[in-house]
Amino acid sequence: MSLIKRLPKELVEKIAAGEVVERPASVVKELLENALDAKATHITITLEKAGTTLIRLSDNGSGMDATDLALAVEAHATSKISSTEDLFAIKTLGFRGEALASVCAVAKVDITSRQQNSVAGNTIHVEGGVPEAIKQVGAPVGTTVNVSDLFFNVPARRKFLRTENTELQAITTLVSNYCMAHAHVHFSLSNDGKQIINSPSTKQMIDKIGHIYGSTITKQLLPVSSLMEDISVIGYISNPSLTRADKKQFTFFLNGRFIKNPNLLSAVIEGYETLLMVGRNPIGVLNIIVDPKSVDVNVHPSKDIVKFDHERHLLDVIKIAVKSALDQTNLLREHKEKESVQQTIAPQIPSTVSNPTSSQKSSQPIISSQQKNANNVVRENVASYQQSIAPVSQTPKTSVSVIDERQGVLSSTPNTIVVDENLTLRYLGLLHRTYAVCESKDGLVMIDFHAAHERYLYEQIKLHRMDSAKRTQALLSPLKIELTPTQLLLVNQHQQLLESLGFIVDEFGGSTILVRSVPLLFHKQMNKQVLLDIVDELSESVGVSKKIDETLDKIMIRMSCRAADKAGDELSDEKIKEIIRQVSMAGHKYSCPHGRPIFLSVNKAELEKMFKRRA
Ligand SMILES: Nc1ncnc2c1ncn2[C@@H]1O[C@H](COP(=O)(O)OP(=O)(O)OP(=O)(O)O)[C@@H](O)[C@H]1O
Ligand SMILES: [Mg+2]
Repeated sequence: MSLIKRLPKELVEKIAAGEVVERPASVVKELLENALDAKATHITITLEKAGTTLIRLSDNGSGMDATDLALAVEAHATSKISSTEDLFAIKTLGFRGEALASVCAVAKVDITSRQQNSVAGNTIHVEGGVPEAIKQVGAPVGTTVNVSDLFFNVPARRKFLRTENTELQAITTLVSNYCMAHAHVHFSLSNDGKQIINSPSTKQMIDKIGHIYGSTITKQLLPVSSLMEDISVIGYISNPSLTRADKKQFTFFLNGRFIKNPNLLSAVIEGYETLLMVGRNPIGVLNIIVDPKSVDVNVHPSKDIVKFDHERHLLDVIKIAVKSALDQTNLLREHKEKESVQQTIAPQIPSTVSNPTSSQKSSQPIISSQQKNANNVVRENVASYQQSIAPVSQTPKTSVSVIDERQGVLSSTPNTIVVDENLTLRYLGLLHRTYAVCESKDGLVMIDFHAAHERYLYEQIKLHRMDSAKRTQALLSPLKIELTPTQLLLVNQHQQLLESLGFIVDEFGGSTILVRSVPLLFHKQMNKQVLLDIVDELSESVGVSKKIDETLDKIMIRMSCRAADKAGDELSDEKIKEIIRQVSMAGHKYSCPHGRPIFLSVNKAELEKMFKRRA
């Protein structure tokens, strides 16, 4: 019996119209959603050249009979809604009856389908929107859609297709996301014969998250399960110590539909209260289940932007759900499983490898360490520098005799630091474990030693980037890092860039990599987070027409920030002086690579004014 109906004109006009097929990833999305709507439990996606030459999606769902197969490729024909009321209570992922017709219009498509009770299947070939006669064929139960030569008849679109790497990343992320939200479905994705995702069906969402993020991350996730006033929030969020610089690793679903809405992540972050470091984002997957009548999914042709009737209320529910998940967890215990791992490097301690847990034995309650970190960030905040004191200018104007006398005396003392020909300092001590306090001929100079160290290291990375002997160091025992399938693609794609920075990385199997060598900069300890930050930065650049140089610069800034000594670290005066001397030799010594000042001064005249010695 035929299920698909042509929609009446009045209803078609109410459906958000727009481009359905922009790129291979949008084809995969539509086919995937159709398979899920057909209640498939096994979905196999096969790509050639990242979908630009072939996208094949096979499912074991309900299938279609011959009549429906013919209607399926027509525009505005769907089995999912039939009236205007249905449009305001959508329970399926598709509803417009547009997707297959749109794909068929711009590619060569074969759809083969068989229903459970049929002895044979049927197949249809559509090329550039023109369907051929349906033929009976032998086929397994379910549907296989074969899309080849996408945009063969729209050369302008073909020309503007993004690179294969970008497409493959977009498709991998899409499949990863759907995989986590539909635990009972076996997902498999391969490109040019290489398997990227193979995630068997399971009862638990956490197992699926494990297939995508790996077991190390999964162990640090906390369950969220809340039901409040007809809104359920179910899923997993990361322990506060597990964060990412980018926002892409938190996925939201609404009634099983992947959705984009930045306010949702903000609500999650609010739920963490002070537990997260400023500027860092948690990892997680949340499925929000609401009455389909309370949400409009018909606002954008991509169907991933939705409009909630009471968004503010929903955001509060999410925030409370996250907060109570955190409240119910013993964060002190969770902290012990923190992601970072200390690594020794061959030349430093040749005979031993540090115990990964040794540094964690004396771990403080996570709340206090998080707050400490948050405070550090606040201290580093640009706003805090905007005080009455002014940054030291690059060319101090005065060179009064006092300093000349002092220089004579001070240059022989271990506390003297020559910043440049016009600025010599006498180191006095460290304030709040953050600012080095020095005397200059003109008054008082304070130095943010973390910013100074960052600048010095950044200049060093830049200088030695192409010099392999100076930049890389083999690890005694390689560092194993579990990545998501999308992250693995990024690492493979940017092997050369990573090598130029001193990271030598091999595939280990699945989505795991082995880091064999690291930049010399990290000679004392190597932290997984360093590499993950770099991958975040690479992922930010995907699809953005940003020059790779810009990304590289951001990566070098991240590396220098990670490797630099931090405010609050316990450092000797000798080490602080060494950092100031090092930055004094750097090319741009007056600001850190993020643009924050390194030196601040209060001149003598100002001091005198403050103490009312002069008017
Ligand atoms: N894999 C599949 N298995 C079974 N039926 C399918 C499958 N794919 C498509 N169909 C049928 O074909 C119809 C048309 O599919 P199409 O994707 O074009 O529209 P839709 O899913 O109804 O809405 P939308 O345009 O929002 O995706 C669907 O309503 C469904 O009945
Ligand atoms: Mg559809």
